[in-house]
Amino acid sequence: MDAYDCVTTLLDIRTFDSKPVNSEIKLKILEAGRLTGSGINTQHWHFILIEGKDSLKTLADDSTTGRWVENSDFAIILLTNPKYGFHLIDAGRATQDMQLAAWSFGVNSCVFTGFREVNLRKDFDIPIDLNPTIVIGFGYPRRVTSGKTKNRRALGELVSLGKYGIRFDEETYRMAPTKHLI
Ligand SMILES: Cc1cc2nc3c(=O)[nH]c(=O)nc-3n(C[C@H](O)[C@H](O)[C@H](O)COP(=O)(O)O)c2cc1C
Repeated sequence: MDAYDCVTTLLDIRTFDSKPVNSEIKLKILEAGRLTGSGINTQHWHFILIEGKDSLKTLADDSTTGRWVENSDFAIILLTNPKYGFHLIDAGRATQDMQLAAWSFGVNSCVFTGFREVNLRKDFDIPIDLNPTIVIGFGYPRRVTSGKTKNRRALGELVSLGKYGIRFDEETYRMAPTKHLI
């Protein structure tokens, strides 16, 4: 799967098969997070790898919007340092890189951001200077997900041409991509 296929077919999946993800793939997913670029290359993040039924259940109990993580194969709690104004952007980039790396090996994932923070910090020994920003749960899908279309707004609703509000028409652009520059 090339990078474009990976991006365009990735879906966030919340039901997982019991087939375990092997440790080599887990290492590659962590490596994808490690290699992600961060603001001023601060690399202020920390990844807590969560494995095993008991820990995943604790994580699910500490969540308000990610109960499904209980049935994932493993999860990563992504901590970032809120003293950097860009820490949420960094978290998003590392998250997406890890999800895409996983998907390139056929491993699905989903994220959640709703926590019972006091409990989460206590259960996973999260230091006070780091922010529990997002949790990613991974696993093989229970059903085939490839080929499903994404529910997304059309390009014409999202893109402006040159200035905000100038209509971008995909078909016109395809036929004459430089016409508006003349
Ligand atoms: C910043 C962010 C926060 C999210 N928080 C949650 C969450 O708390 N719980 C959850 O189940 N999914 C969460 N999601 C997953 C989104 O619901 C999902 O990406 C979106 O519905 C698109 O899914 P699809 O790619 O399968 O179409 C979150 C996604 C993002 C990017």
